[in-house]
Amino acid sequence: FGGGPLAGRRVLVTSGPTHEPIDPVRYIANRSSGAQGTAIARALADLGAEVVFVTGPAEVSPPPGVEVVAVETAEEMRAAVHDALPVDGAVFAAAVADWRVANASGSKMKKTAGALPELELTQNPDILAEIAGLGSDRPALVVGFAAETDDVVANATAKRRRKGCDWLLANDVSPATGIMGGTENRITFITEDGAEDWPREGKDAVARRLAGMMAEALA
Ligand code: C5P
Repeated sequence: FGGGPLAGRRVLVTSGPTHEPIDPVRYIANRSSGAQGTAIARALADLGAEVVFVTGPAEVSPPPGVEVVAVETAEEMRAAVHDALPVDGAVFAAAVADWRVANASGSKMKKTAGALPELELTQNPDILAEIAGLGSDRPALVVGFAAETDDVVANATAKRRRKGCDWLLANDVSPATGIMGGTENRITFITEDGAEDWPREGKDAVARRLAGMMAEALA
């Protein structure tokens, strides 16, 4: 038996980008490195939690001591998240692609002179909103992220309500901040009680701060 304030607690963390295929060799993705989600999984495991780490194709390796479920697409991530339930807490740090290609090709699309492929996009499921809206299977604590470029507090406050999560960690990902893909983060922490600014600090420090608060909330 390991010790720690989260011993006996099972938590889920989603992390990384998703890749949405266009054809077998091409995909739509985003610039998420998986650094923040990985740091959170590590911090939760360090506090003794049993961690299920559902990760898209990230740049950073998963931490030791967690159960890794590697996925590619948003649909696969959704299925893996449902398979991981029930959990006490869930942190949705993945940058899920908003859209996937509805008419993805099973074979490599040919480059034909004078003809451009028409990609038809369709909406991906909102995994966070879906899990936060569950009845009896809802984790006691559901935490989301919001990458915003303007009006961070107003947008993130509205987003927390819309998604139905308990806590929302909003960060300003304007290119000038260097946060997306960088090593630091600056969080505005949103709950139903309001917004609180955390100091700009390393993603590991953000992760430890969040994990500590989760341990208190789930005690
Ligand atoms: O709506 P937006 O993408 O800004 O929301 C971000 C939050 O929602 C993150 O916590 C992200 O992991 C989660 N999310 C999700 N499934 C989606 C889109 C976002 O779980 N399809």
